[in-house]
Order: sequence, then structure tokens, then C-alpha cells
Amino acid sequence: MVIQSNCSLKEYNTFGIDATANILVKYSSEEELLTFLEQYHSEMSHQPLLHIGGGSNLLFLSDFPGVVLFSEIKDITILSEDEDSVLISVGAGITHDDFVVYAIQHGWYGLENLSLIPGQVGSSAVQNIGAYGVEVGDMIKTVQTISLEDGTSKVWNHDELSYSYRHSIFKDEAYRGKYAICHVEFQLKKHFTPCLHYGGLLASVQAKQIQPENLSAMQLRDIIIETRQKKLPDPKVTGNAGSFFMNPIVGLDIFHRIQEQYPNVPFYEVDTNHVKVPAGWMIEQCGWKGKAVGPAAVHDKQALVLINKGGATGRDILALCRVVQQSVYERFGILLSPEVNFIGEV
Ligand code: FAD
Ligand code: EPU
Repeated sequence: MVIQSNCSLKEYNTFGIDATANILVKYSSEEELLTFLEQYHSEMSHQPLLHIGGGSNLLFLSDFPGVVLFSEIKDITILSEDEDSVLISVGAGITHDDFVVYAIQHGWYGLENLSLIPGQVGSSAVQNIGAYGVEVGDMIKTVQTISLEDGTSKVWNHDELSYSYRHSIFKDEAYRGKYAICHVEFQLKKHFTPCLHYGGLLASVQAKQIQPENLSAMQLRDIIIETRQKKLPDPKVTGNAGSFFMNPIVGLDIFHRIQEQYPNVPFYEVDTNHVKVPAGWMIEQCGWKGKAVGPAAVHDKQALVLINKGGATGRDILALCRVVQQSVYERFGILLSPEVNFIGEV
């Protein structure tokens, strides 16, 4: 266990916001976490607790006046397997994309479309990360947590986790910030069936002169990475947290109203009564793509991504978020909800 006082969080959030925490605790086992929690409850429980992962979906609006927890639990264990699938327990502190590579190399499939998404395995189960037609929650069997309030361990079954678009039970008000995820159990397939239905994915495969039936999982991963790198800024170079807002899911009445004015509006069908409208498209329509407000800007290749041009504070990014929300609301009558987690008083 490593405990640091008055610690800069600049390297712990991909926006590169220069906030500090009173204390940063890195633990590498459940026992270490429990030991720390005992000390916390007896000596420092007046300070707030915040569990972070790779900080790729956080926006620090001020210094954090409390204790930040960071998992370095990194074990991978096969729990059971048969001809078709494998059940694996994965430590929350493992980098999600390292696990994607590990799985493909072991002949375990399902995660390929989620290649290159930053962050840790534990947070992927909080966020229900998704890309190119796949959501991680569909492969998660159970999540094992420790209560930050009383140290008890609990195993949550898939049905209890309330997975939906960018949502899990751990984002609900009643559960938010109350648990440390320690292990995530994945069920992955042993036979590779590529998922190519999203956007231009099939066309990207064909452009490489590869027949879908000959496509390997590693080739699919490479295509996903190439596609992502064309649009999304590399956080090591430009501070960002991926999509800043969620894509709104709207009823058909609202959608038809937009479609009347913008016949080419892109959309994804959600169910017979709802569609998802890409927020990046709406933000671009409002003229924000590539525009800056102080040191915060809308990315010039993907309008859904807000970036730190250098030296931005969380408040600078929040100010841009607010004017973008206002523009979209005025033009489309839709209030965009941030996907990014705000830390501090809004
Ligand atoms: P953090 O941002 O540190 O934390 C996220 C949340 O999880 C917080 O609420 C935190 O309190 C909680 N948390 C973290 N670890 C634990 C734990 N062990 N126990 C309990 N709670 C915990 N997301 C997508 O879904 N799809 C994408 O395609 C995508 N692309 C991205 C591209 C870029 C360039 C960037 C920067 C981000 C992108 N994201 C994407 C967003 C982000 O990568 C995901 O939300 C990711 O899961 C966040 O992981 P993290 O480890 O960085 O978590
Ligand atoms: N679009 C524009 N202008 C833009 C951006 C997008 O017109 O500036 C249009 C595109 O032309 C396309 C549509 O919007 O028709 C969708 O764009 P894209 O495929 O880039 O995906 P997205 O909806 O902007 C979502 C996720 C991403 C995920 C990709 C791929 C959300 C909030 N975002 O983005 O996730 O990687 O699809 O599946 O759902 C993240 O969550 O951080 C993230 C990056």
C-alpha cells in the first residue's frame, strides 16, 4: 500500500487538470483496502472518499478535500471453462485495454470492439463502457465489491447491475461512491464472431480487402484502433475525457420534429419508440466544432469531445460545457447530459 499526502492528481486524470488530493491511497489487495478503511474510519472519516481509476471520465472542478483511492488489484483467474466459453475473474486495477489484448491472445472473444478505451477494468463495470455496437455489461457476469462504509464484501449478479447505455447501479444516487469494485467476472466466447453492424465498420473491413469470414479478432482490434485514432485525441498529447456528453435518447415525436428541419440527421434506432441522436452532430450543427473558449475547446475532428488546450482548469471546461449545452438546447430543444463525472461543486 502506498499513501501519499497532498498529492497532485494531474497524472491521474486524462483532462490533465492540476488538482490535488489531501491523501492518495494505492492498494494492491482487498486486505490492504480493508486495513486502510479501518484507519480511515477511526482517524479521518470527516474527509470525503473518492475512488478513481485511470481518471479518463473525471473532471476535477477544484482540489479534492479528502482521500482518493486507487486500485492496483491485478490478478486474473480462470474460474471455469467449457468448449464454448470461459469465465474469468479480473482485478479491478488492470488496464481495460491490456485485458482486451490478453483475452484475444488467449482466444477469448467479445471485447474486440472495446479496444483502446482508456481506464481500468473496475471502472469499465461502473461506466458500462461501449463502442462500435458492443457494451461491456453484456459480458459481465458478476462484480465483487467492498463497502467503503463498513468493509463488507458483496457479489452483484448481472441482473442486479442495471446495465443500460453508459449506466450501472453504481451510478445511481443510492449506490454512487459507496463501493470499491475489486474484481469483475467476465464470460467470454471461445469462438470468434465479429460484430460489424455499427456505422462504417463493415466497410472498413472490406476496404482492407478482408472478407468478414476471414477476419481475425486481432485484425478487428487493429481496425477499431485505426478508426478511433482518426477522430479521438490521444490524452497523452491533448487533455480530454472522450465523449463529454451522452448521446440523447429521444422519442419519435421529438426526432421527427428535428428530421423535418434536418432531413440528414444521423440516428440509431433504440426501440420502436426511441432513437439515439448523435450529440456530436448537434454540436457541430451549432457551429462549435474546433471552437475554443479560453483554454477549453471543442475538438476539431469530433465535436462530442471537449479538450484542454493547455492549462485549463475544471471550471474552464465546465464553462465551455455550459455554453455548448445552451446552444444545443436553443436549436434542438434537447438538454445534453454530461457523460463525464464532475468532482466538486458544480
Ligand atoms: P475514472 O474516470 O477514474 O472513474 C470513472 C468512474 O468510476 C468514477 O465514478 C469513479 O468513482 C468510478 N470508479 C473507478 N474505479 C472504481 C473502482 N475500482 N470501484 C468503484 N468505483 C470506481 N467510454 C466509453 O464508454 N466508450 C468509448 O469509446 C470511450 N472512449 C474514450 C476515449 C478517450 C480518448 C477517453 C479519454 C475516454 C473515453 N471513454 C470512453 C471514457 C472512459 O474511458 C471510460 O468511462 C472509462 O471506463 C473510465 O475508466 P477510468 O478507469 O479512467 O475511470
Ligand atoms: N458526428 C458529426 N459530427 C461530429 C461527430 C459526430 O456529425 O463532430 C456524427 C457522425 O458523422 C456520425 C455520428 O455523429 O454520423 C456518430 O459519430 P461517431 O460514430 O463518431 O460516434 P459518437 O456517437 O460521436 C459514440 C460514443 C463513443 C464511441 C463511439 C463509437 C457516446 C456518448 N459516445 O460516439 O464513446 O467510441 O460512439 O461507438 O455514446 C465515450 O463514451 O467517451 C466515447 C468516445
